[in-house]
Amino acid sequence: MNKITIAVDGYSSCGKSTLAKALASELGYGYVDTGAMYRATTLYFLRNDIQLDDNEEVNNALCHLNISFKSLDGKNCTFLNGENVESEIRGMEVSNMVSPVATISAVRRAMVARQREMGKEKGVVMDGRDIGTVVFPDAELKIFLTADMEVRGKRRWDELTAKGMDINLKDVVENLKERDRIDSTREDSPLRMAEDAVEINNTDINKKEQVEIALDLVNRKLASFI
Ligand code: DC
Repeated sequence: MNKITIAVDGYSSCGKSTLAKALASELGYGYVDTGAMYRATTLYFLRNDIQLDDNEEVNNALCHLNISFKSLDGKNCTFLNGENVESEIRGMEVSNMVSPVATISAVRRAMVARQREMGKEKGVVMDGRDIGTVVFPDAELKIFLTADMEVRGKRRWDELTAKGMDINLKDVVENLKERDRIDSTREDSPLRMAEDAVEINNTDINKKEQVEIALDLVNRKLASFI
């Protein structure tokens, strides 16, 4: 086997996408940001005033959603029905609504089916909450990222303010805590570490060190197939 499936799961703002993107680029693998798919779905629901407890409305909306990714100037962008929504899905309106949307089983079924399709050829790094437990339970490498809340809040705040968003740190931390709570207590595929995942706590290590640790895990895994 020369290409594997790599699952990167963890709580909000632990640096999953930073690690997953770096790994994909080092390995020449594809990268799928599954959180962006739930965010784009949430944006569609908000724009179309979809009632989350109305199964028919939700199912109908899911039939009209087309989410895709494209790299523009080296930046991974999320498209919703052909429109680049990358900035809009990172804002607080979507962030405050995405976890409730992600509890809906019909939404999860639709997203998981698309994710399995995107990763079926292997050679993919996928980040999210349920990749190692539900989407690809047979992934050859599963990484579970953790970091202290203080560090996570500050990182997310830096990211949002760098994009020009006017937001205070307290609101960012509250949003992370609330999303962690909903994501890990929902009935359908709650966020948890897969039994065979390797935990990396990146509170005190930098991005480069984190990528080196993960690449070492990849190389060991690939060597084990020889
Ligand atoms: O990774 P993110 O913060 O962009 O994800 C946004 C939300 O989407 C997160 O709070 C929970 C949900 N999500 C999920 O339920 N399952 C995934 N695989 C990815 C994200």
